[in-house]
Amino acid sequence: MAKSTAKLFLLSSFFTTTRTLTCTCSITTGASRSSNKKRKQKEAKLVVVKEKRRTRSDKALGDDAAHLYADSSAGHIPVMLGEVLDVFSLFSSSSKPLRSFVDCTVGAAGHSSAIIQAHPELKYYIGMDVDPVAHEKARTRIDGILHGDSCHPTSDLKSHTILKNFRYIKSVLSEVDEKILDTGVDGILMDLGMSSMQVNNSERGFSVIGDGPLDMRMDPQASLKAEDILNSWPDTELGRILREYGEESNWRSLQDKIVKARLHGGLHSTGQLVDLIQNATPWRRGGRQGWIKTATRVFQALRIAVNDELKTLEDSLYSCFDCLAPGGRLAVISFHSLEDRIVKQTFLDIINSNEVDGDEEERHGSELRKIRNDNDEKEAWIRQMIQGCGGTILTKRPITPSEEEERLNRRCRSAKLRVIQKVER
Ligand SMILES: C[S@@+](CC[C@H](N)C(=O)[O-])C[C@H]1O[C@@H](n2cnc3c(N)ncnc32)[C@H](O)[C@@H]1O
Repeated sequence: MAKSTAKLFLLSSFFTTTRTLTCTCSITTGASRSSNKKRKQKEAKLVVVKEKRRTRSDKALGDDAAHLYADSSAGHIPVMLGEVLDVFSLFSSSSKPLRSFVDCTVGAAGHSSAIIQAHPELKYYIGMDVDPVAHEKARTRIDGILHGDSCHPTSDLKSHTILKNFRYIKSVLSEVDEKILDTGVDGILMDLGMSSMQVNNSERGFSVIGDGPLDMRMDPQASLKAEDILNSWPDTELGRILREYGEESNWRSLQDKIVKARLHGGLHSTGQLVDLIQNATPWRRGGRQGWIKTATRVFQALRIAVNDELKTLEDSLYSCFDCLAPGGRLAVISFHSLEDRIVKQTFLDIINSNEVDGDEEERHGSELRKIRNDNDEKEAWIRQMIQGCGGTILTKRPITPSEEEERLNRRCRSAKLRVIQKVER
């Protein structure tokens, strides 16, 4: 009697609105297997459909709200604005006021404007940026809010916009008010990377599209430009940054071509660099798409090196956490895996860096219970936390933008939000 067997293994696991689906399908017709071996065993191909495992936000602000805080002249839309507001919404005027807030990357002041308007109880606002164009824009915008009709009375809000690298957060805060570090600040935000104002200005040299000088400095007073790296750094160092900061697999060939270009006067414009990348990228690597991706990685590598972004980020995360008041929160939005890895590792290091004693476990439990009670189901984005001695990581997995926000603003697609809270003692 014909016998048939069919095996189907379906493994699936779902995360928020995304999933990893692994489907192994193996079908064997057994009738023929028992009588003779003529019948062929049929096996469906192993089908593996993998989507990125991510914890998508369901907290997007609507189109109108996001555009309200966008900078229309520069086309900059603040990324994950709804989520950022939610991170600090725990603080409210009555029970637990947001007395002080530092925006380390004020940019066009999109996030800052929204925070200032959402928190009438705010006493200190400090916005920092290393870019004078952003600093000027932010200052004008925040002054407009404080002195305009659109804001609630904030007469006792002390607002400072400061042209400084966020690695100097401690000295900036003590210059603003020497007592502020004693109490600590309630909220700190870092929205890393470039603003649309910087990318869209080809004179800054950040953009793969549009010709400009090979500059890439966030701080125009800094001495190192991308041009210096390309034309005079040792070839091994050049290779290292392409490999480590650009994660570019074709780094050796690019390194050789860049070094060879020095014999003919070197590279002096983004257009020349893009031409070199186009010629160095084989068509089998995806043609036009291929060279654009390679160019994006090369530009990222140069930008990271010019602005010493990774070391600055790591050091500054420790400094920012030190500046927090008990129960204060630090939120970081990153845009590529190198940054996100640093945020993740540094947060873990921060919460685990204190000495552990016998009562620690008990304290961890009560801290987690307190956060859960405080949140009272308000903070739906908090799904899994990690409790340590010094604080709580509120986002065991980073939060990524909602699909709606991705449709609205393509720039947000790679954004990841991580939040840490200082222990309340
Ligand atoms: C993505 S934009 C911020 C946009 C802002 N959140 C908004 O809503 O308009 C990042 C800003 O951080 C600034 N920046 C980057 N690295 C910095 C650093 N180390 N210190 C201070 N500012 C920095 C850049 O100049 C840029 O203006």
